[in-house]
Amino acid sequence: MIKKNGLFITFEGPEASGKSSQILLLKNFLKKNKIPFLTTREPGGTKLAESLRKLILKVRSDINIHEEILMLMAARSHHINNVIIPALKEGKIVISDRFADSTFVYQGYVNNFGIQKAKDLHKNLLNNFLPRKTFLFELSTSLIISRLKVRKLKNKYDKLDIKFHNAVNKGYKLISKNNRFIKIDASKSKKQIHDKIIKHIISLI
Ligand code: TMP
Repeated sequence: MIKKNGLFITFEGPEASGKSSQILLLKNFLKKNKIPFLTTREPGGTKLAESLRKLILKVRSDINIHEEILMLMAARSHHINNVIIPALKEGKIVISDRFADSTFVYQGYVNNFGIQKAKDLHKNLLNNFLPRKTFLFELSTSLIISRLKVRKLKNKYDKLDIKFHNAVNKGYKLISKNNRFIKIDASKSKKQIHDKIIKHIISLI
């Protein structure tokens, strides 16, 4: 059923858009249907990359944007080579909570490194390794803020700053103009979103 060379899918979107709970629902669906899969996340996914995650997302951090992007690339390289590619070779569906698009948006656009420069680095250092499809969760800034208000803020990007979340949303709009992206209205019910995701996943395997 699943193609021999696996299927790489990512979930992207702003803070509090519900990606992680949808990944959990998808995981349950795949388990129930005995479809081989692996879920992972970025920054992270390997022991080394998880240590880098702590440094990258530390609330009080003195690393500059160049250092941050290089750490992200190092973490991603380790993740791709040691986790993602091996699982794809085993024919699994690999689902990553965030991947390169987050770098294009957060570092490239929001933190002014440059989207094209971030994409060029990805091409040169990571062989332009990209997912087959990306579920992009879209949520208005006001809903992001009201959802964040009722949860514990976890990292330096999990903040109640309207300008920041507007920029994240704008960044995702700018990078998602091709058919790799499947847009999800994150204000819809969990069930509606889950059903849409399952429909797409089934069409891909
Ligand atoms: P989350 O995965 O728990 O949502 O949070 C991870 C945070 O890391 C999120 O605010 C986005 C940020 N991030 C980047 O800034 N660049 C990246 O390349 C990745 C993968 C995440």
